[in-house]
Amino acid sequence: MKQALMVFGSTGNLMYEKLVPAIDQLLKEQHIENELVIYAMGRRDWDSDDYFNDIKSNTDNDIDWAAIEKRLKYIKIDVKTAEDYSRVKETVMADGIEDLTVYLAVPPYLFPVISKGICESGLVEKGDISNRIVFEKPFGEDLDSARSINKSLWEYFDEKQIYRIDHYLGKEMIQNILMVRFANKIFEQVWDQKAIDYVMIIAKEEEGVLTRGAYYDKIGALKDMLQSHLLQMAALVGMEPPKNYDSEAIKNEKVAVLKGLKMAPKDILLGQYQGYTETDDVDNDSNTETLVFAEASIDNARWRGVPFYFLTGKALNEKRSEIIVQFKSSDTINQLWPGEKAKDNRLKIEVAPNEGVVFQFNVKNPGLSEKIVPAKLDYCHSCQAMENTPEAYERLILDVLNHNRTLFTRWDEIETTWNIIEKASRRRNQLFKYASFEEVKEEIIHQYGEDFYDL
Ligand code: BG6
Repeated sequence: MKQALMVFGSTGNLMYEKLVPAIDQLLKEQHIENELVIYAMGRRDWDSDDYFNDIKSNTDNDIDWAAIEKRLKYIKIDVKTAEDYSRVKETVMADGIEDLTVYLAVPPYLFPVISKGICESGLVEKGDISNRIVFEKPFGEDLDSARSINKSLWEYFDEKQIYRIDHYLGKEMIQNILMVRFANKIFEQVWDQKAIDYVMIIAKEEEGVLTRGAYYDKIGALKDMLQSHLLQMAALVGMEPPKNYDSEAIKNEKVAVLKGLKMAPKDILLGQYQGYTETDDVDNDSNTETLVFAEASIDNARWRGVPFYFLTGKALNEKRSEIIVQFKSSDTINQLWPGEKAKDNRLKIEVAPNEGVVFQFNVKNPGLSEKIVPAKLDYCHSCQAMENTPEAYERLILDVLNHNRTLFTRWDEIETTWNIIEKASRRRNQLFKYASFEEVKEEIIHQYGEDFYDL
């Protein structure tokens, strides 16, 4: 079967830095059909050679360029012009494409415009799952815009043709959360307010916004990271066991737990790194947050009283994403060893750059004393993989090409998370400026009166 991937927004970062390297890897590992055609759609007056030369000179990765070049076709398009889509359809038909994935790596306001164009030209037909459409996040800019985008998508496509990307769901360790929780009696039994003190979800980044000022300044960290990636992680940590491992059953439970998640504006700390406003395409007096620290609660029997903390930000001291489940202190430790200070149990699911699971517990200090010391059980996921573990986009592109929708978000997940963010940001808190991560920590301690040692 001759397949094609058609990318709108093909001159953007995502194509250069993520999609092409992911396709290259899938081709090298022979996961995708040799016949795959890549249509790069763009406004610029280029031909395929111009496009190829540009992407080749601007992508650092070690890519088999000959394999990419022979599949690549650049097509100039004005996304608002109906005739342009008819021309594209003729090309696709002449190439004998039987299975087409259209990938929108464009700002959300263009989703309805392009959807209309590809549908009305007959390039993609409603209900025909040999034509699928992929949307990059953010899906909308707020709850209203997300709703109206989604409404117009349902006009043009069946839900089963729609793939909404949250690339965190393509990461190995995010897929591992449910296994760790539900394939281990030891964790399944203690996964609630009786045993857990708090949950902390972290996605720190060392880089600033780089060349993405125009996009980022309109969006900010709450919408760029919390609404999508961090809340998806919280849903997987917090959900009830699904009836089976079916995609819909899992999504039902994710939505159920997200509906009970509350984040009050007073519990949100917003920061902006020094120098952000000097970034290209960012307003000089911008109030956009580049950092969020937030506390949420989940109103159900499992989680009542357990805070879920979230931290995400740019220009911090390191790149690190992980989930920490911090357990309560043992009930008997003081009775048996009064005065001994032990560290509480904690389970850390490391998402990036390390991939693994670390469990901290207490043991006796070797020797004659009765001291308690912490020890760690450490599982390195990437070390177990025969090859490198796949990048999120490799997994997601392969799943779209294979018609597998499990790792893509359903509309009600997106609607629920926008709802949380909308309520949480109703009254915008004042921004604090940070020049270093130490200053962020000080601000958190100041606001929460607590020194979270995981940060
Ligand atoms: C993207 C955000 O969704 O995720 C970026 O738009 C962010 O701002 C990126 O840098 C982080 O992803 P990862 O996989 O590098 O943790």
